Amino acid sequence: PFAVHLSGTKYGCGVGGCGACTVMLSTYDPIAKKIRHHPANSCLLPISSLHGAAVTTVEGVGSIKNRINPIQERLAKCHGSQCGFCTPGMVMSIYALLRNHVKPSMEQIISALDGNLCRCTGYRPIIDSYASFEQTCCQLRGTGQCCLDQEELGCSSSVVIKLFILTFLKTYKSLSFPPQRIVQEQQRKTLIFCSKRTTWISPSTLKELLELKAKYPKAPLVVGNTSLGLKKNDCDAYHPVILHPLRIPEMQVFSITDDGIVIGAACCLAQLRDILMETIPKLPEEKTKIYQALLQQLRTLAGEQIRSMASLGGHVVSRGSAWDLNPILSAGKSVLNLASDGGKRQIFLNDQFLAGHKHADIEPKEVIVSVLIPYSTKDEFISAFRQADRQKNAFSIVNAGLRVLFSPGTDTIVDLSILYGGIGSTTLSARKSCEKLIGRQWNDQMLSEACKLVLEEISLPPSASGGKVEYRRTLLVSFLFRFYLEVLHGLHQMYPFRYAELSQDKMSALGMLQSGTHSCLQDVDPGQSPQDPVGRPVMHQSGIKHTTGEAVYIDDIRPVDGELSLAVVTSVKAHAKIKSIDISEALQVPGVINVVTAKDVPGKNGNDEEEAFAKDKVICVGQIICAVVAETLTQAKCGAKKVKIAYEDLQPVLTIKDAIKHNSYITKERKLEKGDIEKGFKSADKIIEGELHMGGQEHFYLETNSVLVIPRMEDKEMDVYVSTQHATDVQKLVASALNLQSNKIMCHTKRVGGAFGGKITKPSFFAVIAAVAANKTGRPVRFALERDMDMLITGGRHPFFGKYKVGFMKDGRIMAADFQCYINGGCTKDESELVIEYIVLKVDNAYNIPNLRVRGHACKTNLPSNTAFRGFGFPQAGLFVETCIVAVATKTGLPHEKVREINMYKGVNRTAFKEKFDAENLWKCWKECLVKSDYHSRKTKVEEFNRKNYWKKKGIAIIPMKFSVGFNATYFHQAGALVHIYLDGSVLVTHGGIELGQGIHTKMLQIASRELKIPLSYIHFCETSSTTVPNGKYTAGSVGTEINARAVQDACQILWKRLDPIRRKNPKGKWEDWISEAHKKSISLSATGYFKGYVTDMNWESKKGHAFPYFLYGAACSEVEIDCLTGAHKNIRTDIVMDASFSINPAIDIGQIEGAFIQGVGLYTLEEIYFSPEGEQLTLSPDTYKIPAVCDIPEQFHVYLLPNSCNSIAIYSSKGVGEAGFFLGSSVFFAIRDAVAAARKERGLPLDFTLNSPLTVERIRMACDDIFTKMCCEPWYTTCFQ
Ligand SMILES: Cc1cc2nc3c(=O)[nH]c(=O)nc-3n(C[C@H](O)[C@H](O)[C@H](O)COP(=O)(O)OP(=O)(O)OC[C@H]3O[C@@H](n4cnc5c(N)ncnc54)[C@H](O)[C@@H]3O)c2cc1C
Ligand code: FES
Ligand code: FES
Repeated sequence: PFAVHLSGTKYGCGVGGCGACTVMLSTYDPIAKKIRHHPANSCLLPISSLHGAAVTTVEGVGSIKNRINPIQERLAKCHGSQCGFCTPGMVMSIYALLRNHVKPSMEQIISALDGNLCRCTGYRPIIDSYASFEQTCCQLRGTGQCCLDQEELGCSSSVVIKLFILTFLKTYKSLSFPPQRIVQEQQRKTLIFCSKRTTWISPSTLKELLELKAKYPKAPLVVGNTSLGLKKNDCDAYHPVILHPLRIPEMQVFSITDDGIVIGAACCLAQLRDILMETIPKLPEEKTKIYQALLQQLRTLAGEQIRSMASLGGHVVSRGSAWDLNPILSAGKSVLNLASDGGKRQIFLNDQFLAGHKHADIEPKEVIVSVLIPYSTKDEFISAFRQADRQKNAFSIVNAGLRVLFSPGTDTIVDLSILYGGIGSTTLSARKSCEKLIGRQWNDQMLSEACKLVLEEISLPPSASGGKVEYRRTLLVSFLFRFYLEVLHGLHQMYPFRYAELSQDKMSALGMLQSGTHSCLQDVDPGQSPQDPVGRPVMHQSGIKHTTGEAVYIDDIRPVDGELSLAVVTSVKAHAKIKSIDISEALQVPGVINVVTAKDVPGKNGNDEEEAFAKDKVICVGQIICAVVAETLTQAKCGAKKVKIAYEDLQPVLTIKDAIKHNSYITKERKLEKGDIEKGFKSADKIIEGELHMGGQEHFYLETNSVLVIPRMEDKEMDVYVSTQHATDVQKLVASALNLQSNKIMCHTKRVGGAFGGKITKPSFFAVIAAVAANKTGRPVRFALERDMDMLITGGRHPFFGKYKVGFMKDGRIMAADFQCYINGGCTKDESELVIEYIVLKVDNAYNIPNLRVRGHACKTNLPSNTAFRGFGFPQAGLFVETCIVAVATKTGLPHEKVREINMYKGVNRTAFKEKFDAENLWKCWKECLVKSDYHSRKTKVEEFNRKNYWKKKGIAIIPMKFSVGFNATYFHQAGALVHIYLDGSVLVTHGGIELGQGIHTKMLQIASRELKIPLSYIHFCETSSTTVPNGKYTAGSVGTEINARAVQDACQILWKRLDPIRRKNPKGKWEDWISEAHKKSISLSATGYFKGYVTDMNWESKKGHAFPYFLYGAACSEVEIDCLTGAHKNIRTDIVMDASFSINPAIDIGQIEGAFIQGVGLYTLEEIYFSPEGEQLTLSPDTYKIPAVCDIPEQFHVYLLPNSCNSIAIYSSKGVGEAGFFLGSSVFFAIRDAVAAARKERGLPLDFTLNSPLTVERIRMACDDIFTKMCCEPWYTTCFQ
């Protein structure tokens, strides 16, 4: 049958966590006679649930072929896409919002994007592009220019907005709900869908549902499938019968009764939110306390897609430990209306129901029809709290529902409920504690008794699953304290003469931190003459295709004839001998074609350092041992589960400390020395010593590793379509694995859905695995990794451990420093040698330390091999040296910025490895940043705020940066290009660089346009391929664009020169005339261009070198606010000044700076990888590993490019800014540290504390040591933690 192949919707995680798969569902409600539109994560949607629904994918919103929707156009033109993989999901979330609210508020826009992750852009341009649908905004706010008009400036934003709204309304009205679906829904027939294993029944009446439930008591009721659906990848977990109660009117009700609000169990959480928002203003305030608390939880619960799918009934029944509504529903005495074929009954949604006690639970034959959420009363107070790793779209670490009822007009407790989530396997109640407190007055004695009782009753042993034990215990009492104060505040408001007002100190404990609205400024030099695209904010070459979903990634390539799917079997042991591999059961799985192991590799199994298939021994959990190929992916995965491997355990080495103990290193020590360190220490007034630990980081590119291998019919040739930063390595490794010459392997990469260094070395191994499978079976093989597999196998940024000894004077001058740096390289060499070299070379950052010794060690452990990641060691090294600066500032009592200034490089200088550079622009950026951020006056305001607020603190930090661009060997910078001019005058540009989202091709087209003096519309880029430009180096190190640009420039200049005689003869002629004439004169219209590379070298023997082509400078100032009770923080404002010299494309460069900055914020404050004691990574999905989301960006985010700067080394005096912004994310880290220091100072705690990275909610909370942390921790805890 003809398949439509709508590949615009992307698959990023499969568990509802990333939003790449967002579609819009429209369903007809025959009772309300309304069509409901809502966003949904298609990865969790059972196909049978869609009967009667209209599904709009990104293709239905608009396409280049038909008509682009304003949402798509706006996003592309505002530079809201980079790699583009998240973009269709973003479009769909906003599309669904606009279908319901044509003029949404900023809050609605941000909340619509809660469930969509983007790893590239830093979200700012995405918000800005959609902010235009709000009434008051334009992207270039502050400049007076409208971002839509980059080609024709001058139209007012209000006209644009009106036009958009009109076009939008026109576009979507044409896509009305299919009338036949409305008729079908009105007929309300029972629907039954049968597959080989499962029957899906969607009854239309309650009676029928109850009969079915009586017949199939074990059958689940699937509504949103957001709980049950997470097990969909488990091929053994299936249900013979599934009931779908979505069409039952009684389960969709909403009514206001005398007792409270009744809501149908099949209503989704977004409906519940909307109902509450509508109802609350209509009721007396005292009746709405539970509704307000529910609303508060619903604002941060999951993303809009999940809120629109997940049902209230499903939420209540699945009783997840961290589910946010159950504690508050239970505290508020909600009632479940149940029905079965035996009749109706009501039960309380209380702690016993939540604990699953048989007498309090629903029977297998019963269903929840609706939930009664009662009104609150005058003398009742109800609050809900939650704290998660990330403010939104993250499961709570701990949540709580608390309620107290007083005897009328007093503060005597008549009834009390305290329930917590996130502690046990389900919501827990402190029932006994509450009983003991009945009759007590609401005062400090009661609070301290309550804390003691709760900590005794809600047990959390040190080994509790989920870890963070002290933090979770601290949250139990911190929430209790906040509730206590909220109630006191409420009592004062009700009875101002009887109950005192809270002091300012205590008031500061109230209220959770919430992100505000966002604004931004972009100050860019308008650039060249109007005809010349260089220097202009030209839209990403694929921008529109990203937004329409027409941009093709590897897994979007249509299935080819005979194609097989591949799934790998990975090691479950960190270090073991492989005793046997039994594939017999796997071969029995229907559809499985073969199992491929190391024995099937005809040539070399990997490279000199790393095996593609583990042969005799495994050296980490997640190492690939063999691969199962089958007709479908599901069959391949089932087959993989059936492979049995017997191991013989060996002793693993997992941590840096273990590796030091066992002398386990990947390379020799790297060492640099400058000055005389002993003398330096002797001359110092003081010496301090300390340590810093930093966790690693997952790349979390939205497109997981993917490869499609197609064997050709002749000469053993093979096409390899691969998502890589290094096509040459793929070609080399595949050829050597198949025992072929490289000239038989054709590698193709059109674009990559994000890489950040993670697709330099790893894709070659995935390509080898697929190629060996294709070679063995003679059929094409597709291998697209699931998110968990990608995260399990690939490794990421290197965890870091540094020890420092710093000697300094009383005035803050650092005289000497001795640094020992260690990274956890994992089980193979990969890029670890280069990373430790860069750490040693770059650790000085912006500081001139006269006597310096740095030693670097790359540890070999039994973790998945870590690899390149944006910044390549500098983010670790930079944080380390800044930690030393802070330690010196703390000891001397000087302002941090003063100590920075005293020690910063000045004028023309030399690095520790004797490379010369001029620090003038470092100072320019620093001073400009001080001015633009208004640092000094804001610092005063921060101090003022801190004096007034005990439980909330603000912090501010400004960080300078010297970033070395490129590589320390010339050959890394070489690049090639091929430019063809066709007879119609059109030009095809090819080069060795790969489009990772950084806009490399866009810039190449700008360069070709300038060099050939033709409009951009004449020039096209097709794909990066080993057949057109051979031997490309990897696209990385911030220089990918500029070195390939040199090659493109070279080719264009050769062609331009060839056309010289023709042009001279006909100077007024058109380009097309010249080309036609040149062809007639037999002038070749094709040229290769080549760039030999910047001359760089590093001699580790002499410890001297010209290690980097040039330096790039920057500075960033960030301000934050922390909540000392929970550890939450809010990014208030960031100002970045970057010395990008002459930017070829300021929109792209600013996008790179912002995107890198937010990734840096992720590394330093959010992203935490956990391993089991056996070396198995536990954080394998967006559920457990949190990258920054839209809620994490600064409310005000300003990026300025330093004007009047030049760089004689790079093309057109530009600079590579791909990585530099990353480290500036540390300004948020140090701003948080500043806030924590303010809290500690007020509490009389020592200030010479070290905070490790990432600075998560847990670390922040525990560092703000107070009575609550003391109640919960062993005395050793806080010191050892820091
Ligand atoms: C990515 C993601 C993020 C999330 N984030 C959060 C979060 O931040 N906070 C939070 O609280 N929760 C969160 N959740 C969990 C979510 O709230 C629950 O999964 C959801 O409420 C379950 O509802 P459902 O309709 O999807 O249940 P389903 O998966 O359809 O069903 C779950 C179970 O409930 C039973 N059931 C459903 N309806 C009835 C009924 N009427 N009568 C009897 N039994 C019934 C079914 O038999 C089934 O066993 C998240 C989930 C995902 C996937
Ligand atoms: S793929 Fe569906 S949410 Fe990630
Ligand atoms: S553009 Fe959003 S993930 Fe790449």
